[in-house]
Amino acid sequence: MKRFLLPAVLGFVVLLITVVSKTAEVKPPSTPKLVALGKQIYAQQCVACHGIGARGDGEAAYLLYPKPRDFVAARYRLVSTWDRVPTDQDLFDTISRGMPGSAMPSWEHLATEQRWGLVYYIKSLAEKPIKIRAQKMPAADGSGGEGIIEVPKPVPFDAAARARALELYKDACASCHGDTGRGDGAQDHCSLPPYSRGHSGKSDADE
Ligand code: HEC
Ligand code: HEC
Repeated sequence: MKRFLLPAVLGFVVLLITVVSKTAEVKPPSTPKLVALGKQIYAQQCVACHGIGARGDGEAAYLLYPKPRDFVAARYRLVSTWDRVPTDQDLFDTISRGMPGSAMPSWEHLATEQRWGLVYYIKSLAEKPIKIRAQKMPAADGSGGEGIIEVPKPVPFDAAARARALELYKDACASCHGDTGRGDGAQDHCSLPPYSRGHSGKSDADE
């Protein structure tokens, strides 16, 4: 009987870990408690740059360019909607990843729940409520789109796509990357460091 106990316990632990890691990815609904948690983390971690009043004017802001975001004006950059408002997931991703090239760090080390708390707290500060509208595709000239931007599915890499790619490559890339993609194109400035990458699938060590 005892022999069966260990696999059973291990099986249960694996199941538990799977369940826990799955729930960690799920977006919790906004509750007053979660917003309060976000507010508390904001006061500890974000105020120095984004400011007590969240106007992007924290103590460190005068040293920074680009300036920290003003969460009251709420004009966001990393958005996936036509009307340029961030989805909850956009905010969560930005908070998790940071914004390379600016002082905005990644907060991936904060618990998932804390990051969702920050999303909901920051959203609650916007002077004009952040709303995601129903999806409307833009006109041919690109105007009038609303809601979430749908990214087209990648096309299959079939023979026709390959032929198109080769033609484009010859036209636009070969002058630097070389006819066969070895990074030995004819343009002078291509041979200065950083060298054009070979696209032959071989590493520098092979060349
Ligand atoms: C060291 C300074 C600093 C700290 C601390 C900081 N930020 Fe930022 N944050 C910035 C800067 C600078 C930007 C603007 C970057 C840009 O425009 O490229 C920014 C931008 C943002 C944005 C805007 C994203 C967009 O799409 O425009 C969000 C959301 C954000 N920060 C959330 C947070 C949260 C939440 C915290 C605390 C957990 C935090 N930041 C802490 C400097 C900081
Ligand atoms: C004017 C010269 C030039 C042209 C034209 C050019 N490239 Fe490049 N490319 C470079 C150089 C130089 C690098 C290396 C940059 C570096 O190491 O920072 C590079 C790097 C790359 C990389 C590697 C990026 C990475 O993460 O290492 C890819 C992929 C690439 N080019 C694709 C293309 C494609 C596709 C085209 C044609 C549509 C193209 N390039 C046209 C000069 C060029």
